[in-house]
Amino acid sequence: MSFQGFLSLQSMSATCGFLFFAFTLLFSFFSFLVFVSRMKPWCNCDVCKSYLTVSWLNKFPNLCDWYTHLLRKSPTGTIHVHVLENTITSNPVNVEYILKTNFQNYPKGKPFSVILGDLLGRGIFNVDGESWKLQRKMASLELGSVAIRTNAMELVNEEIHARLIPFIMGSVTHDELNDSVCVLDLQDILRRFSFDNICKFSFGLDPGCLLPNLPVSNLADAFDLASKLSAERAMNASPFIWKLKRLLNVGSERKLREAINVVNDVANEMIKQRIEMGFNTRNDLLSRFTGSINDDVYLRDIVVSFLLAGRDTIASGLTGFFMLLSKSPEVEELIREEAGRVVGPGQEFPSFEQIREMHYLNAAIHESMRLFPPIQFDSKFATEDDVLPDGTFVRKGSRVTYHPYAMGRMENIWGPDCLEFRPERWLRDGVFVPACPFKYPVFQAGVRVCLGKDLALMEMKSVVLALVRRFDIRVVQSGQEPRFEPGLTATLRGGLPVRVRVCERK
Ligand code: HEM
Repeated sequence: MSFQGFLSLQSMSATCGFLFFAFTLLFSFFSFLVFVSRMKPWCNCDVCKSYLTVSWLNKFPNLCDWYTHLLRKSPTGTIHVHVLENTITSNPVNVEYILKTNFQNYPKGKPFSVILGDLLGRGIFNVDGESWKLQRKMASLELGSVAIRTNAMELVNEEIHARLIPFIMGSVTHDELNDSVCVLDLQDILRRFSFDNICKFSFGLDPGCLLPNLPVSNLADAFDLASKLSAERAMNASPFIWKLKRLLNVGSERKLREAINVVNDVANEMIKQRIEMGFNTRNDLLSRFTGSINDDVYLRDIVVSFLLAGRDTIASGLTGFFMLLSKSPEVEELIREEAGRVVGPGQEFPSFEQIREMHYLNAAIHESMRLFPPIQFDSKFATEDDVLPDGTFVRKGSRVTYHPYAMGRMENIWGPDCLEFRPERWLRDGVFVPACPFKYPVFQAGVRVCLGKDLALMEMKSVVLALVRRFDIRVVQSGQEPRFEPGLTATLRGGLPVRVRVCERK
C-alpha cells in the first residue's frame, strides 16, 4: 500500500471514529431529551411540586406516610406522580388486576432489572419470562420439600437457643435495685439473627453475626451496602447519573462495585466448596441447586436473591412486631396465655403442630405486618397502554406501584380503627381467618406471590414465642414517629432501642 493510501485510510478511520462519537453523543442527548420529556419535570401540580421540593417532609416523617395521606384522599385510591411517571395504587381491585388478571402486562420490567442487575444478576427477583418461570418452578419445589423445611426450622431453633436467647440473657445486668434490665438495639440483633439464618439456609455458611461479641461481618456489611446503594440508584432523578458514575467508577458506584465484589467472592467460594463436596450431602439451597444447575454465575445469582429475600424482610417484620407489642401489653399477655395453653411449661421448642395451633399469635404477626409491612411498596412496568379497573389510564412503559404500607392504613379496607394494632380483627371464634391477599399484599399476591411466606411466618413465630415467653421487651420511647431509612426493605433509622427485663413466668 502507498504512503498516500495509508494516510487516506488513516483519515478515513479518524472520520469514522469522529462520526461514531458524534452519533453516540447525539443519540445519548436525544435519549436524554425523550427521557426528560416523559418525566415531565416541569409538572406544576401540587403533588409534583411537593415531591420535587421535598416539602412533604414538613408534614410527614416518611415518603410512605405522605403517599398514604394522598391515597386516603383520592376517591379511587390511586394517584399519579407525574414527574416519576408512577401510578401508585392502594385499591385492592387494581392490585388484583396488576398481580393476577393482567399479570402479563405488568412485569418487573427493564428499568428495575437494570437498577438491581449488578447485585442480583439473573436471580429470581430480577427477571421476567422464561428465566423467572424456570427459577420459580425450581425454588417452589425446593422450598416446598420436607427436607428443606425441616432443615430451616432446625437452623432457626439452633440460632434462637444457642445465640439469640443467651445473647439477650448475657446482656441483662443487675442494677442497684437488683432489677434485671438491659438496653439493646433490637433491630440490630434481629438483623444479625436473620442474616446468620439465611446464610446457613442458602449457602450452608455461618457468618456468626450473633456471636457474643457481635463481630463485624464483612459479608453482612457488604450485602447491606450493596442493597442500600442499589436502592438509591432508583432515587436518582435520571438513570444517566448513576450510569455515568458506574462508567467512571466513582462515588457511590465505586463503593457499590466494591461491595458487590465482596458478596461475589464469598458466593464463589461457597459454590466451589459445594461442588467439591458433592451436592447431595447437605440440605442448604445452594447444595440443592448445584444438583440441577451447571453455571456458577447463575448459581451465585440465585442464592444472592435468597439472601435478599430472607434477611431484611424477617428482621424488619419482627422489628415492627416488637415496636407495636411494646405499646400493647394486653396483646403480649394474650400471646403468653396461648403459649402457656399450647406448649408445656418446661418445653423449650414448640413443635410445628403446636405453632400451627396458635391462632392468636398468627393473628398478631399478620396484624403487625399490616401496619409495618417489610416491603412497603413494589413496582411493575406496563408493557402496553392499559386502563386499571378504577378507570386510571396507564401509559406503556410507565411505572405502576401497589403500596402495602398505605393499604394497611386505609379505612375503606380495614375499617375506622385501621390505625389500631388489634389482632382480633383476624379471628373468627378464635380461629385465624386470612384476609384477601389483594387487600393484604404484604407477601405480594397472585402469580408472583412470595415463595418463602410459610417459612418466614414459622421463623417469626418461633422468635416471638422464644422472646415473649422469657422477656418483657419495651421500646425506649423517643416520642417520635418511626422514621425509615431509604432501602429495599423497611429499616428504622436509628434502630429500635429497647429495655429488656427477664420475665418471671415462662
Ligand atoms: C416476612 C418475610 C417476608 C416478606 C414480607 C416477603 C415478601 C415478599 C414480597 C413482597 C415479594 C415480591 C417481591 C417482588 O416481586 O418484588 C416476595 C417474593 C419472594 N420471596 Fe418473600 N418475603 C418474606 C420472606 C421470604 C423468605 C424467608 C424467603 C425464602 C427463604 C422468600 C422468598 C421469596 C422469593 C423466592 C420470592 C420471589 C417470587 C417470584 O418472583 O416469583 N421470602 N416476598
